[in-house]
Amino acid sequence: MKTATTRIICFSIVNLFIFNVFSQVQVLPKLRNTYSDYAPLIDSTTMITHHSVFHKNYVDCLNEALKGTKKMNEKLNNILLNISYYNNKSIRYNAGGHYNHSLYWEILSPNSSNKISEALSNQITKDFISLDLLKQEMKRALKAQIGSGWVWLIISPKGKLMVTSTQNEDNPIMDVVKERGVPVIGIDNWEHAYYSKYKKNKEDYFNAIWQLIDWEIVSEKFITAIGSDVFESIKMDNWPELKVYKDVMSHSYHAAESGDLNALRSLSKEFMLYSIYLRNSKIPNEFNDEKTIKALIKLQKQSLEIHELCLNNESDKVLLKKILEAHNTFHLIQGVCKHHDEHYHHFNAR
Ligand SMILES: [Fe+2]
Repeated sequence: MKTATTRIICFSIVNLFIFNVFSQVQVLPKLRNTYSDYAPLIDSTTMITHHSVFHKNYVDCLNEALKGTKKMNEKLNNILLNISYYNNKSIRYNAGGHYNHSLYWEILSPNSSNKISEALSNQITKDFISLDLLKQEMKRALKAQIGSGWVWLIISPKGKLMVTSTQNEDNPIMDVVKERGVPVIGIDNWEHAYYSKYKKNKEDYFNAIWQLIDWEIVSEKFITAIGSDVFESIKMDNWPELKVYKDVMSHSYHAAESGDLNALRSLSKEFMLYSIYLRNSKIPNEFNDEKTIKALIKLQKQSLEIHELCLNNESDKVLLKKILEAHNTFHLIQGVCKHHDEHYHHFNAR
């Protein structure tokens, strides 16, 4: 059987102790109930192991992987939104594991409420016809998944509810998954979540989880997800030219902030070309206003100038100043990447 034995072992006990005492930034969340309260739907042995061993290990490994880096105090959502830039399998795996399990514990309760809000109920009717059909679709996704992973109910960048799945500890916030969105329900489809009680019977496991879902909490998550920083960032999926430009900007900017201007020098042509594509692209309605249009014009000018400066082999100091200015303009585009604004100000405050 496939279990969590494939997990990444990443720290020594001594290092773990020192780090936990002095600088732990990601924390294992407390459960809403005691371990035994979830029985008989989830047995207490599974709950204890799942929370206090597996989830704890994701948290500890994530802290260990981030220790001593500039991202040590980064918010978990920001790490997930930009996971492709980390180029670190341990961070991807453990940041995902920490987020996914935190959501799982949050939406499950032995005293779950069936109070589903009108707003969520209307959206379910619109996208799935009925709650029962949503249930059937999630169950189908869970049973169809091969290997370990998660099944999600997400709000897509277009504001629709969708059922998706991801492998391992990936999740829909990550910029590496195909179907992105803000999760409102996450169901663990690893054997460590169900094998002890349900063996291979995923149908019974799903039905048990469905009984534990607290719809009052899910309804709250649905309301707060719309307009959240995560949602605004993922909305960029509706504007592919912006997404492509953001990729070049991020690679150049993040290297530049570490004092390495070589990425910018080698990408300056793409930088210029993508700014032209972006300026000439169809702006999605949710971004289309005067402020955004002005920022796009300015950004194209700045990107052209950066390319010319690179061709003239300008100094690192000048290029750094120019990329900071262009980065600032990029974030004037309405609603884009608020988390990067925080990052930008954090960087400049150093
Ligand atoms: Fe799990």
